[in-house]
Amino acid sequence: METDGGWPVQLNVNGVAQRAVAPLTGTLLSTLREDLCLTAAKRGCNQGVCGACTVLIDGRTARACLTLSQNAEDRAIQTLEGLRGDPVMQALQAAFASGGAFQCGFCTPGMLISAYALLKHNPRPTEADVRGHLSGNLCRCTGYVSIIAAVDAAAQALSGQEKFA
Ligand code: FES
Ligand code: FES
Repeated sequence: METDGGWPVQLNVNGVAQRAVAPLTGTLLSTLREDLCLTAAKRGCNQGVCGACTVLIDGRTARACLTLSQNAEDRAIQTLEGLRGDPVMQALQAAFASGGAFQCGFCTPGMLISAYALLKHNPRPTEADVRGHLSGNLCRCTGYVSIIAAVDAAAQALSGQEKFA
């Protein structure tokens, strides 16, 4: 059944089945922000460059601005809102806050999601690992030193190990 606004789409977002309507060319970012009111993922460049829209799809980072909503059906989508209370995310948020790893905060949700994906798969990353993993997330105000240090601090807090080897 087609509607004026597009086609029905069924999504699994943060473990909850969600229904929306999206054009065939509609992006997951638009569906999340405008239909589901999940606004942690930000619209920055809207062309796959800045990483502000980063979400997890089946546990891997993805650009919501480049993902078609229709192609996201039957996939496990996680946004920052769905990671509230997760110990790894809590450690990252605490480290970002205490380490001053943001200014305007626009890039921060995407940074946190990317860092979360890294620590879930590599709990004790090297500095090079962190830099490489966050290379697709751009920050135009804080700079990267404090962000990278915050990810290291979170890894330390979670593992009890010492600073970057
Ligand atoms: S808004 Fe998606 S990568 Fe910039
Ligand atoms: S804190 Fe402003 S863009 Fe990163």
